[in-house]
Amino acid sequence: MRIPLIAGNWKMNTTVTEAEVLVQDMLDRLDRIKGVEKVLCPPFVSLVAISMMLQDSSIELGAQNMHFEVKGAYTGEVSPIMLAGLCEFVILGHSERRWYFGETDEIVNKKIKAALGNGLKPILCVGERLEENEAGKTREVINRQVEMALASVKPGVGVLSEAKNLVIAYEPVWAIGTGKAADSKGAAATIKFIRNVLAKLWSRDIAQDVRILYGGSVTGGNIAEFVAQPEIDGALVGGSSLKAEEFLSIVEQTAAIKGKPRSP
Ligand code: PGA
Repeated sequence: MRIPLIAGNWKMNTTVTEAEVLVQDMLDRLDRIKGVEKVLCPPFVSLVAISMMLQDSSIELGAQNMHFEVKGAYTGEVSPIMLAGLCEFVILGHSERRWYFGETDEIVNKKIKAALGNGLKPILCVGERLEENEAGKTREVINRQVEMALASVKPGVGVLSEAKNLVIAYEPVWAIGTGKAADSKGAAATIKFIRNVLAKLWSRDIAQDVRILYGGSVTGGNIAEFVAQPEIDGALVGGSSLKAEEFLSIVEQTAAIKGKPRSP
């Protein structure tokens, strides 16, 4: 049984004060929602303040990026040991990092290993661009991104103690921030394909334990369609995670839908 997960990726939005207000606006209600893992990923500068607000709550914290070295002359970077102890999760390989900041599959692989090696749970983002989608290359791209990001990573061996510590988010680049979410059945099919890639890399049993989320223009209006798909374990939410009511609605709907026993 995979526990559903909803993560809010605030991206480069909110000052520290705004971040505190946003958390305050959802803290009590979010805390009470059961059966869904809830993760907030504010900007680096707000992590300390928000981690204090989330103490004694059921809400977890994530960072949006990280360097793979633990320390050194890397001006402006944040390392895994700085995040460990402060947050549980770290988003890695987000398409905005890949396309605006030149992160390659090799860099993402180093970051995944560094995160796991320092006790952080990665949310690995993969997804095809519009032209790749239109050229029928979605599976080829996803297969490469997953295989390369997880090169020399194996649950139970070395840094990845358990498969449930790895989360993958399938985020088609053309659906991110565009208001054009993917079709839920199509997203579920691609997520099933990702699980098959994991099964080939490791084993079918291990692949069953990895949570795979959908991301890209998720809203309170469309989350139900996505989480009703058994293959989809939750969502990575950008824009809609900056609105307290909408994010709460996304998490509440997920709890209601995933909490229902499925007909055989
Ligand atoms: P969006 O972003 O929900 O605003 O499309 C999702 C993401 O980039 O993680």
